[in-house]
Amino acid sequence: MKVILVNGGPHKNGATNLALEEIAKELNKENIETEIFWLGNEPIRGCIGCGKCRKTNNRCFDNDVVNQFLDKAETADGFVFGSPVHFASASGAITSFLDRAFYAGGKYLTGKVCSCVASCRRGGASATFDQLNKYPLINNMYVVGSSYWNQIHGNNREEATQDLEGLQTMRNIGKNMAYILKCMEKANLPKPVYDDTIRTNFIR
Ligand SMILES: Cc1cc2nc3c(=O)[nH]c(=O)nc-3n(C[C@H](O)[C@H](O)[C@H](O)COP(=O)(O)O)c2cc1C
Repeated sequence: MKVILVNGGPHKNGATNLALEEIAKELNKENIETEIFWLGNEPIRGCIGCGKCRKTNNRCFDNDVVNQFLDKAETADGFVFGSPVHFASASGAITSFLDRAFYAGGKYLTGKVCSCVASCRRGGASATFDQLNKYPLINNMYVVGSSYWNQIHGNNREEATQDLEGLQTMRNIGKNMAYILKCMEKANLPKPVYDDTIRTNFIR
């Protein structure tokens, strides 16, 4: 089993990454493979709503980090999306990334487990956590919680290292995710069969 942990912050080894590493360590202890997928610092465009992904094998026309992620997501069993708080919201990079990844390739994430985490200096973690959770919760995913809302505090990696409760929260995400993944593997139940999607656009 494999979990991809996405670092949506500008620092490859920053506070967000520290949180993801802490989760990954717990998953690894349970023999679950992990990969930290850093979005990098190149610009990530937002979704332009062109609909080409519907015609191009669930890939975005802009062949960037989103498609690299979707190639890996097809065979992964779980995901963690991590973001620093930028103005009480998720980073612009991960927002654009998630819009396009879920719009183009949401089917590769459906039915899998997911957890979202936020890192911040002082405020906005809950709002960011709520924002990130919007993606798995509209995509038939199994969202994993922890012993506190999934956040760690510190302006950088060194400061976040001192947030002992935050680190524990991350470890508990890892433990809970490993447990759910193992339960799913052991039960080996058929996936839910959904009715055809009904879309109502509130025009009548
Ligand atoms: C543009 C920008 C906006 C930020 N806004 C907030 C904020 O609203 N609240 C907060 O507590 N920290 C804010 N921060 C601080 C970061 O959330 C914090 O440093 C974070 O832990 C850095 O994570 P990283 O090392 O993974 O980038 C902001 C940082 C940047 C660069």
